[in-house]
Amino acid sequence: MTSESFLGTSGSHPAPQQAGPGAVPTAEDPFLVVDHLSVRFPTHDGLVQAVSDLSYTVRRGQTLGIVGESGSGKSVSSMAVLSLHNPKSTRLEGSITVGGQEVVGADDATMRKLRGKEVAMIFQDPLTALHPFYTVGQQITEAYRIHADVSKSTAKKRAIEMLDRVGIPQARSRVDDYPHQFSGGMRQRAMIAMSLVNDPKLLIADEPTTALDVTVQAQILDLLQDLQREFNSAIIIITHDLGVIAEMADDVLVMYAGRAVETGPTKLLLTAPEMPYTWGLLSSVPDVAADTDARLIPIPGNPPSLLNPPSGCPFNPRCVYKPKVPGELCVTTLPELLPAKVGRDHRRRCHLPDPHETYRLEVLPEIAPELAGQELAGQELAGQEKVGP
Ligand SMILES: Nc1ncnc2c1ncn2[C@@H]1O[C@H](COP(=O)(O)OP(=O)(O)O)[C@@H](O)[C@H]1O
Ligand code: SF4
Ligand SMILES: [Mg+2]
Repeated sequence: MTSESFLGTSGSHPAPQQAGPGAVPTAEDPFLVVDHLSVRFPTHDGLVQAVSDLSYTVRRGQTLGIVGESGSGKSVSSMAVLSLHNPKSTRLEGSITVGGQEVVGADDATMRKLRGKEVAMIFQDPLTALHPFYTVGQQITEAYRIHADVSKSTAKKRAIEMLDRVGIPQARSRVDDYPHQFSGGMRQRAMIAMSLVNDPKLLIADEPTTALDVTVQAQILDLLQDLQREFNSAIIIITHDLGVIAEMADDVLVMYAGRAVETGPTKLLLTAPEMPYTWGLLSSVPDVAADTDARLIPIPGNPPSLLNPPSGCPFNPRCVYKPKVPGELCVTTLPELLPAKVGRDHRRRCHLPDPHETYRLEVLPEIAPELAGQELAGQELAGQEKVGP
């Protein structure tokens, strides 16, 4: 848990402190610094602007939740942290440092040292991450031996131990199974075991519980929290499920059309959101408002094309609050990610002059009538030195 800002006060970040000779990283330095990252893919149809000017940091021990609809750039931005994009077909701008090491433009040898040990990723689809021709045990063993100078038998013991820890029954015999002999939930666990085998300092979990039943989901989230307690790992959890965010994340980054549109401590984001797209996300999660009878109000329309993103605010074609903004600002001018009205370390990208009045009078009565008359939790938090769950 942390109450430190994960976005600098200026919206940009201090230069990574550790990179220069003689600079000694401290525990307080962010472990991951993503600074003005843009990821673009040239295609036959034009340039896909998958991620635009994205900045955030994550410290050891902190969990950052990245949330947003499908196609908002969550996976593309995270894959850039592991330098997994093909340099021939990707245009990357900005900087990403992991433990002080620059990743953008890093050579393969540098990335091999970082991947698995410094930063590991749990992919959305376990089948694409596990090789069908090798046993689960062989794959975990190999992942371990890249970074640990140990014999095959020692590594196999470690693989069994990891499978056991992620809750694979009879790990000693199942270690010799092939991926297709595992159920979907077991493959997901095996992949988590492989991601955790080197005790990574940063773990990126890309929709780790999608397509799993709720019991397995809960076990996997518990496992990630155990990892964090044991190794003080930094975690990025990518999800479209605000329930998962509420349970796991210290801080939230809401992405829309490849950009950060609202960021801040989880509690503030869930109780005093200031960006209409975040309101839309919250409206689809009755649990967050603790009212199971709350109406589910889907966000109208579809996410924009990243080939030709809308001018102005990327959310403007779907935003019903546009008329509250004077003039044509919403369609002409991209709002900056500026400090929000309420709460420390809370930022939002929206031109609305008084988002809380709109939220309280128009959004809350629709999704949680019993909360509509109350003070917003964020207003109590405003001005306090420390916020966070
Ligand atoms: N290699 C690629 N070439 C062209 N477009 C891509 C490529 N990879 C991803 N995209 C596009 O980038 C956008 C962001 O994708 P992604 O990060 O996977 O979204 P999500 O938020 O669902 O994880 C999507 O519009 C996707 O179609
Ligand atoms: S800037 Fe305008 S269009 Fe964008 S979210 Fe705010 S009110 Fe809606
Ligand atoms: Mg994705």
